[in-house]
Amino acid sequence: TDYETILVERKGRVGLITLNRPKALNALNSRLMNEVVAAATGFDRDPEIGAMVITGSEKAFAAGADIKEMQENHFPDVYLDDWLGPWDRLGQLRKPVIAAVAGYALGGGCELAMLCDVLLAADTAKFGQPEIKLGVIPGIGGSQRLTRAIGKAKAMELCLTGRMMGAEEAERAGLVSRIVPAAELLADALATAETIAAMSLPAAVMMKESVNRAFETTLAEGVRFERRLFHAAFATADQKEGMAAFAEKRPPSFQNR
Ligand code: HXC
Repeated sequence: TDYETILVERKGRVGLITLNRPKALNALNSRLMNEVVAAATGFDRDPEIGAMVITGSEKAFAAGADIKEMQENHFPDVYLDDWLGPWDRLGQLRKPVIAAVAGYALGGGCELAMLCDVLLAADTAKFGQPEIKLGVIPGIGGSQRLTRAIGKAKAMELCLTGRMMGAEEAERAGLVSRIVPAAELLADALATAETIAAMSLPAAVMMKESVNRAFETTLAEGVRFERRLFHAAFATADQKEGMAAFAEKRPPSFQNR
């Protein structure tokens, strides 16, 4: 297909999306937004795919929304167009998505990484929400997801000053799951995605839904939601296979049903 701003590849059961506007440090313009959403939605519907990886370049995951493109925007137009709304569809994907971040993940770039389910950071990663320096605020969930990930004090300080934090600070704060040497980032992200993609797909989708429910509801409702999906897992052939394989001391062969 005719993508201009991203590279899209299949690596076995893993779908790989690489942001590819090197001259602009992968700044997120409208075309890139639409292409990422289209590629990810395509992988989500593809029965041969079990997980996805979104990555950028060595220098930048993404340095934010495209400042030159949005400079002249006016309120009624962006409001009526629901500008940036399509990014929400990334948060609604069923299958697990890993963000593999090296270099700058700023503004919309940090928000895009936080829209993913697992965030792996190279030791070179730098995260921040510098929108305030441009006279605006985050627009695809940064003020909400960063605050939930690292707490109010730290999120407030980062957002109000626009300062960047490195990979170690981000890991300590709970924003990233692991730090990986930059040279190994993509291989590690693909291996992690392959591990996930080899699980029962219904179980992985239930798991993702259940963890995400923790952000949307009370503890009692979240536990009830988990219990219902847990019970439902016993309606899958993969539950029978997974438990039979354990009892028979062999690896499971999941059918994703
Ligand atoms: C458009 C960008 C860009 C951006 C970099 N470039 N970031 N273009 N939008 N967000 C372009 C530069 O203009 C330059 O183009 C080229 O990429 C290389 O960038 P340099 O600045 O020369 O690189 P460097 O000196 O290494 O500095 C890297 C940087 C800096 C620290 C990341 O580029 C920077 O501060 N960028 C802006 C970061 C930012 O404010 N992001 C938040 C955007 S607001 P030329 O043509 O000169 O070579 C936002 C709102 C969120 O994201 C809303 C939801 C999406």
